Amino acid sequence: MILYFSGTGNSRYCARLLAEYLQDDCVDAFRYIRDGIAGEFSSQKPWVFVCPTYCWQIPRAFAGFLRSARLSGSRDAYFVMTCGGEVGNAPAANRALCEEMGLVCHGTFSVVMPDNYIVLFPAPTEEETQKLLAAAPAVLRSCADRILAGKDATEHTPGFADKLKSGVVNTLFYRFNMQPKKFTVSDACVSCGKCEKVCPLGNIRMENGRPVWGEHCTHCMACISGCPAEAIEYGKSTRGKARYQCPAEKES
Ligand SMILES: Cc1cc2nc3c(=O)[nH]c(=O)nc-3n(C[C@H](O)[C@H](O)[C@H](O)COP(=O)(O)O)c2cc1C
Ligand code: SF4
Ligand code: SF4
Repeated sequence: MILYFSGTGNSRYCARLLAEYLQDDCVDAFRYIRDGIAGEFSSQKPWVFVCPTYCWQIPRAFAGFLRSARLSGSRDAYFVMTCGGEVGNAPAANRALCEEMGLVCHGTFSVVMPDNYIVLFPAPTEEETQKLLAAAPAVLRSCADRILAGKDATEHTPGFADKLKSGVVNTLFYRFNMQPKKFTVSDACVSCGKCEKVCPLGNIRMENGRPVWGEHCTHCMACISGCPAEAIEYGKSTRGKARYQCPAEKES
């Protein structure tokens, strides 16, 4: 069974393709994370956990979902991390997480997708996006082939920099960079409520037709990039930048 988390659609796209290649079920963790429900799942096929990379680790919200889930059946697990470039030393943390969960980790695949982190980088161009989306099915097909053959994922050997990024940099990033206080909304807002609906942490509430952000944000970019009026900004860092949502998943 595939369990996935996605902010802007890349990981959903990959999870669905994997489900097709593996002929397996695919479950979105959104509702469980949002409502704080511990999921109960059963599968005789290996578990495949699909999610974005947030500062060289899986998102903490997704790790929390996995920790609280009750998984029966297969004890084999794989991770598939979508990323804008690289996952650092995330595979080591994923192995430790599996151990905690009583699962046998068969490794972490990484799939390079368009980088959605418009807080730090410009959104990928249409051309870059199309190129990466076109390359993804072959990468995912080879992940699926290894899973079906019961083989471990191919991982690169982490160096000192990878350990630093997934370790201390990740800790500092969560503490200082994931600040929901910086979100603002402009008069372009049409009060549609979509931002409130798409937030996986339930961190947005509507007040007088405008979104107000709470304290629990995982910087998934779903609110800012999904706003149909482009009325949301994150401080000055997103001004004038295009928004990114996986084009293959925009309407889902
Ligand atoms: C908060 C945040 C941190 C990110 N950190 C990394 C990173 O460390 N390495 C990387 O390659 N990509 C990073 N990215 C890019 C995403 O992992 C990538 O675009 C992913 O495919 C988005 O998946 P989604 O559309 O399913 O949310 C980051 C994105 C966000 C929003
Ligand atoms: S998604 Fe955009 S337009 Fe809709 S309520 Fe939120 S800020 Fe306003
Ligand atoms: S507030 Fe926005 S960026 Fe933060 S978790 Fe919710 S949807 Fe994601």
